[in-house]
Amino acid sequence: MDLDLTEEQRLLQQTAREFAEREVAPIAAKLDEEHRHPAELVARMAELGFMGVGIPEEWGGAGMDTVGYVLAIEEIARHCASTAVIMSVNNSLVCDPLNKFGTEAQKREWLIPLASGKKLGCYALSEPNAGSDAAAQKTIATVVDGGDMFELNGTKNFITNAPVADVVILYAMTDQAKGVRGISGFIIPLKGTPGLTLGPADKKMGIRGSQSCQIFLDKVRLPRTALLGEVGQGFKIAMNTLDGGRIGIAAQALGIARAALEASVKYALERESFGKPIAQHQAIQWKVADMATELDAARLLTLRAATMKDKGLRHTPESAMAKLFASEVANRAAKEAVQIFGGYGYLADYPVERNYRDAKITEIYEGTSEVQRIVIAANLLKD
Ligand code: CAA
Repeated sequence: MDLDLTEEQRLLQQTAREFAEREVAPIAAKLDEEHRHPAELVARMAELGFMGVGIPEEWGGAGMDTVGYVLAIEEIARHCASTAVIMSVNNSLVCDPLNKFGTEAQKREWLIPLASGKKLGCYALSEPNAGSDAAAQKTIATVVDGGDMFELNGTKNFITNAPVADVVILYAMTDQAKGVRGISGFIIPLKGTPGLTLGPADKKMGIRGSQSCQIFLDKVRLPRTALLGEVGQGFKIAMNTLDGGRIGIAAQALGIARAALEASVKYALERESFGKPIAQHQAIQWKVADMATELDAARLLTLRAATMKDKGLRHTPESAMAKLFASEVANRAAKEAVQIFGGYGYLADYPVERNYRDAKITEIYEGTSEVQRIVIAANLLKD
């Protein structure tokens, strides 16, 4: 089916495909094995305009749309889910809210270098005891110096890109009595901020080329100019940001599912058992048929959410549906790919083993599958 992509979207997709095939694929397994951040790929993505795809050119971005962004992330995740999430976090969770809620001065200082890929960003909402229940923030920002400064104390968990990033958009409680309406967002340089330290890099099951760690805040003092948006607006900014972020993770899941399907088809045509290629066994045919059908359905959901975002429409449940479905499709596809490969699928020699480990996180970060169902149901069951 012709999805009616524009010339620009096709070009972005083609550029991402060529970059991923030529530069990402050859080193993806090694990045995973060595748990290494691919600084050289991030530098190339900056040159290609991939670090701020949807940000206007005047603010350092490529001036493209979310549909193009989805197409590009899928191509990159098809070869390396780690590289895709580094790109997704910088675009969706950092550049997007800065573009929407930042002041001119904040955009000049942070958005231009972030969207052009000269700097890298991260997003800190989760805490040791506030993951799915994001409103239960224990990081406290107290007004000090007669209202001129904030002092922040607390811990943030699982912060993707933090070990290698320059700046974090971090959420903290400025007024506990107000609950979700007492949360505010702050822009904090990660280097040279007294009182801010990083934990060791997390040791993870998958996406091992993407680094994450804890952020500790001990009497971190920030001026009012560090606030992103208004005092008390933080939870809405964080949720609105995740509406976009979940589209990026859905696209990452599409790339993983596609990799699993393509590897399965190739292997099924080559591998023989019982005197014929395994592609001729119905057990295998049914698996690849289901994988392909689910992948197309997940892609359509993801492109719908992206299109709604591009049209400026509220897309909260549509993003949740895309992320929920695409992440579960990626997990099923990767699991079946390992099964089709049999014993070889269990070895690190074939990418399906990495696809299987990488797929799992897509059901967890930027809201678990359970949280996506809460968001979808809340939209259906509202008065
Ligand atoms: N956009 C704008 N505002 C929103 C919103 C949205 N999508 N969703 C909710 N809000 C607003 C509501 O309108 C409400 O505002 P009012 O008080 O003015 O009415 C307020 O926020 C509170 O909304 P809820 O009552 O629905 O909030 P809740 O406490 O029940 O939480 C939740 C709902 C959906 C479970 C939410 O906590 C959530 O999404 N949790 C998961 C968090 C998450 O995804 N974390 C991932 C961390 S980031 C990460 O993984 C990044 C990485 O490193 C890759």
